[in-house]
Amino acid sequence: MTTEQKPGHEWTDAERVDQYVARMDAREDAERRPFFEYMARLIGAEPDAGLSVLDIGSGHGPVATVVLDAYPNAHAIGLDISEAMMAVGRERMARFGDRFRYMVGDFGDGKLPPEAVEAGPFDVVVSSRAIHHLSAELMASLYADIHENLRPGGSFFNLDTASAETDAMRERYRAARRAEHPEDVRPASASNEPRHTDAFPHHRDATLIRHLEWLKAAGYAAYDCFYKKGDRALIGGFKAA
Ligand SMILES: C[S@@+](CC[C@H](N)C(=O)[O-])C[C@H]1O[C@@H](n2cnc3c(N)ncnc32)[C@H](O)[C@@H]1O
Repeated sequence: MTTEQKPGHEWTDAERVDQYVARMDAREDAERRPFFEYMARLIGAEPDAGLSVLDIGSGHGPVATVVLDAYPNAHAIGLDISEAMMAVGRERMARFGDRFRYMVGDFGDGKLPPEAVEAGPFDVVVSSRAIHHLSAELMASLYADIHENLRPGGSFFNLDTASAETDAMRERYRAARRAEHPEDVRPASASNEPRHTDAFPHHRDATLIRHLEWLKAAGYAAYDCFYKKGDRALIGGFKAA
């Protein structure tokens, strides 16, 4: 099986990782900060809580970082398959000592890998820009499996693509983004280069309404979209206590 055949496995490519991390460092991590900080507040645990956290598709660790900084007694596992990503992350996450560790494991079948299940259940499961690699069916399956592996009262947050419902809305988001960051988005006429939703056609299935439907079907007692800008949304849910 080639790396292209399994969802997300293109991230084993070191050059792709370097470009991604450079882009996040240059600007996007700062843009994501309000989403992440709000997420940390929504966890709503006591400040000294010894939370057990799973970060799905952790990459260089930006999401786990926010939770570990907000909760000094929390421990996190970063689930990933990319050695190149984890090499960058090991350096950045070293300041957390044994509060953070990577786990090599694949969620590409729409399930947490057995080693992650064994390490659970978790108080908090977080993810950013990783679950979108899955088809709609597998995203829904993963949302249910995450629910299964949360402790009662636990929470799940995913900052990811929530596609526009219509092409007109998609173009409007794109135009707004182009105005804000002309370097990021190509004009609609330059369609020979893949854009995000063109590169991953299944993203079109992952609209906000469907994310919420999957959370509901998965059994979360409360769920919502907590923050949204264009087609990026922080969605998630809370397991019944
Ligand atoms: C775009 S990066 C996001 C990294 C980080 N969460 C962030 O928000 O910047 C996607 C990460 O998910 C990981 N990933 C993608 N598919 C995966 C899979 N099937 N199993 C485990 N990790 C996966 C990749 O290796 C990569 O590190």
